[in-house]
Amino acid sequence: MAKKLMKLALLASAVSIGLATTAFAAKEEAKPAAAPAAPAAAPAAAPVELISGANGEMLAGTCMGCHGTDGASAGPASPSIGGLHPEYFASVMKSYQEGTAYSTVMGRIAKGYSEDEIKLLAEFYAAKPWVPAKQKFDEKLADAGKKIHDKWCEKCHADGGKVVADEEYQVIAGQWTPYLKYTMDDFKAGTREMPKKMKEKFDGMIKKEGDKGLDALYAFYASQK
Ligand code: HEC
Ligand code: HEC
Repeated sequence: MAKKLMKLALLASAVSIGLATTAFAAKEEAKPAAAPAAPAAAPAAAPVELISGANGEMLAGTCMGCHGTDGASAGPASPSIGGLHPEYFASVMKSYQEGTAYSTVMGRIAKGYSEDEIKLLAEFYAAKPWVPAKQKFDEKLADAGKKIHDKWCEKCHADGGKVVADEEYQVIAGQWTPYLKYTMDDFKAGTREMPKKMKEKFDGMIKKEGDKGLDALYAFYASQK
């Protein structure tokens, strides 16, 4: 009942969500300033508890139809999300909410979740293993792609684009190729903002290798287990 009411309230007015989120963020920001006075304070990241009592697993029930059980996506257009770094997870959800990352469906979905709910979802999925998608690829292209990746992308997307502990960067090795293609199209078109340093490398790579370089990269990421 309480959960239902909360959902209704959330849906009722996008404006009030915006205000609530801003107020929450402001409160969060105010914390560090007050903290030094109390050295024995509890750890900064207190566990999130929702009024509804919902936990990450309950919230994730809504996501499974597209992102699979535990985030191993069953379909090529929905990315796998199990094992994503929680900070990246939260930041991309925020980008969907704000519309700074283009999306087909996630913009609408992400707007239904509060900052705390997203934290719980991020933690839930971060604890799941990354499951590389099983897909076909051209081996020769993949070899060429590895060289291109090492030269232009490895610096940030370490270990061939796999999960790297303590790194914020999302996983691209073993991600569904169609999803990577849509994402690259969005980056190129500017409908999803590319980090500035990535843009330099990306533009350099395209200048040198052309769009064929991208195909080689897709093959390489598909080859990664
Ligand atoms: C109707 C299918 C669908 C549902 C339901 C859905 N998603 Fe998504 N999700 C997508 C698609 C498709 C994308 C790619 C962006 C887009 O086009 O919207 C995506 C992208 C994402 C990404 C970005 C992954 C990356 O590597 O950058 C995250 C995180 C995510 N979804 C989380 C969730 C969570 C959490 C839920 C449940 C609350 C959820 N999604 C529900 C289809 C869905
Ligand atoms: C300077 C660091 C840096 C370099 C170099 C870099 N990236 Fe990125 N990349 C990032 C960051 C940071 C993000 C997350 C952006 C965001 O939060 O929206 C990202 C996101 C991505 C994504 C989106 C993943 C998803 O799940 O939606 C893809 C795909 C990607 N990069 C591919 C590449 C490729 C291919 C190259 C080489 C041509 C490259 N990147 C070079 C930092 C980098």
